[in-house]
Amino acid sequence: MNPRKEPKINLFKKSNPLPCKVLENVQLTPNPGEGKRPVKEGHAVINRIKLQLDHEKYPYIIGQSAGVIPPGEDPAKVAKGSENTAYTVRLYSISSPTYGLDKKEDTIEFIIKRDNSYDSEGNVTHRGVASNYICDLKPGDLVNLTGPSGKNFLLPTESFSGDIYLFATGTGIAPFYGMVYELLEHKVIQFTGKLTLVYGAPYSDEIVLKDEFEDLDKKHDNFRFIKAVSREEKNPFDGGKMYISHRLKELGSALKTSMENQGKIYICGGPKGMEEGLLKELQIIMGTSGDLKEFQKELEEKNQLYVETY
Ligand SMILES: Cc1cc2nc3c(=O)[nH]c(=O)nc-3n(C[C@H](O)[C@H](O)[C@H](O)COP(=O)(O)OP(=O)(O)OC[C@H]3O[C@@H](n4cnc5c(N)ncnc54)[C@H](O)[C@@H]3O)c2cc1C
Ligand SMILES: NC(=O)c1ccc[n+]([C@@H]2O[C@H](COP(=O)([O-])OP(=O)(O)OC[C@H]3O[C@@H](n4cnc5c(N)ncnc54)[C@H](OP(=O)(O)O)[C@@H]3O)[C@@H](O)[C@H]2O)c1
Repeated sequence: MNPRKEPKINLFKKSNPLPCKVLENVQLTPNPGEGKRPVKEGHAVINRIKLQLDHEKYPYIIGQSAGVIPPGEDPAKVAKGSENTAYTVRLYSISSPTYGLDKKEDTIEFIIKRDNSYDSEGNVTHRGVASNYICDLKPGDLVNLTGPSGKNFLLPTESFSGDIYLFATGTGIAPFYGMVYELLEHKVIQFTGKLTLVYGAPYSDEIVLKDEFEDLDKKHDNFRFIKAVSREEKNPFDGGKMYISHRLKELGSALKTSMENQGKIYICGGPKGMEEGLLKELQIIMGTSGDLKEFQKELEEKNQLYVETY
């Protein structure tokens, strides 16, 4: 069976989660205070986590997400006197390709940032519950997964000759890591178009797995890796921060031609709603105007646009 053709969802729920053993948990970014990010801007600690997973039991497809249930009781629910005080499930994009990174069907991977809040001096004021729980896990620990979740943010299942553009900010890179491997290295479908990955992050040392993307760029003539480092680079249009939307603008007529020939755009990451800036630039490039939501809907209905922002 080709699991890519039939996305399975919600096989495991909060009431019957799948316990998975942690195989690896590696920090991808510098320690707080040791990288390019000034201390007063808080931390940007991102980990890559690999779990053991039986793909027969949990047949995920790249582009889907998995839920993680943090252990313990949610103090807010306890204070309210709720009957069920368990934490809410948090979703994380699966970052390993459909058949696992090494094509062995026994693992699943994630790219997760410790999502904290900080004061103006960069001191932690609140720690994200699930993200810190996951980033603290050690090899051998068990973590409860729900899912798989999502059946829209997926790659084509048949051979595809159009161009594919992936736009990520921050941890929005997670699904694209697996998609790039799936399209270029695993060749699960015959893909003969061009693949462009545009990856935005505040500092250059927060562009995770950069060396791998650069190596793939060198290795594959049909792959381009473009960075937008917002707090280090200036955009050539108004001299402000370099965002992925400015990179989209730079793609200009080539992107227009791609979109007129079945091209697909995938957008992932935060802040929520950041797709607006990209779609406004796309409208200008395409020479169209009108309501942005309608423009988005039309492209989504034509299977040319996929958005997952959070
Ligand atoms: C489809 C989807 C895919 C996702 N994929 C990824 C992914 O691949 N990688 C990834 O890292 N994330 C991803 N996320 C985000 C993820 O689901 C979580 O939202 C994120 O990790 C935060 O969860 P948490 O439990 O750590 O933080 P929470 O405990 O839920 O807190 C959220 C934020 O609020 C702050 N906060 C909490 N209480 C207070 C308070 N009283 N005052 C002020 N601030 C407070 C916390 O510090 C934190 O910054 C995805 C989300 C979605 C919807
Ligand atoms: N990843 C998570 O765990 C998570 C979970 C829930 C919510 N969020 C929220 O999602 C946002 C991103 O978080 P993150 O830590 O994953 O990413 P990040 O590492 O902060 O990277 C986001 C990048 O996108 C840029 N950016 C900001 N607004 C943009 C826009 N409108 N269009 C294009 N690029 C834009 C940022 O620039 P500047 O910052 O320099 O302006 C930065 O370079 C934050 O608001 C965060 O609170 C994150």
